[in-house]
Amino acid sequence: MEIIKNISSLETYEVRQPVLRAGKPIESCQFDGDDLPTTKHFGIYNDEKLVGVVSVFNKINNIFKGPNQFQIRGMAILSEYQKRGFGEKLLHHCEVFIKSQNGTLIWFNARESAVSFYEKSNYNKVGALFSIPEIGPHYLMKKEIDPL
Ligand SMILES: CC(C)(COP(=O)(O)OP(=O)(O)OC[C@H]1O[C@@H](n2cnc3c(N)ncnc32)[C@H](O)[C@@H]1OP(=O)(O)O)[C@@H](O)C(=O)NCCC(=O)NCCS
Repeated sequence: MEIIKNISSLETYEVRQPVLRAGKPIESCQFDGDDLPTTKHFGIYNDEKLVGVVSVFNKINNIFKGPNQFQIRGMAILSEYQKRGFGEKLLHHCEVFIKSQNGTLIWFNARESAVSFYEKSNYNKVGALFSIPEIGPHYLMKKEIDPL
């Protein structure tokens, strides 16, 4: 049985570290804005074990119009739990939360290797492939969402 809970930024490190920052120091797991009151962290548990995390930031990207933009960051599922639907459930949970905040646009920088995962949930690439230092090639992706 899986369940999604609100977690703290520190709790995300348990999954951010092995999945997104493997071989890097624990400090690299901290993201700017992690502890802002408007930032939310969600964890998905399988039989009480934390297997995936994601964070939502109330952050405007000037490339897009409109004030109610949200950024998704740090989406990560432990490798042995990937491709079992946990990521999609977490992503959907973010969307429900963002709608509850009257968000109208979700954007993020997606690892090139994860673009197809997001396309399955109807996110679209914007612009060309670019590189984030020490992390790798990314695409900006976005989805406009309808209010609840
Ligand atoms: C990308 C990631 C978050 C996806 O989570 P997940 O739990 O493995 O994905 P799901 O099982 O919910 O997959 C949903 C659908 O996307 C597909 N999918 C998942 N990961 C994919 C990938 N990397 N490439 C292509 N398709 C993918 C699944 O096959 C599934 O398709 P289906 O419904 O047709 O079977 C996860 O694999 C992960 O943590 N990867 C490493 C870190 C990473 O890249 N994070 C994203 C940073 S932007």
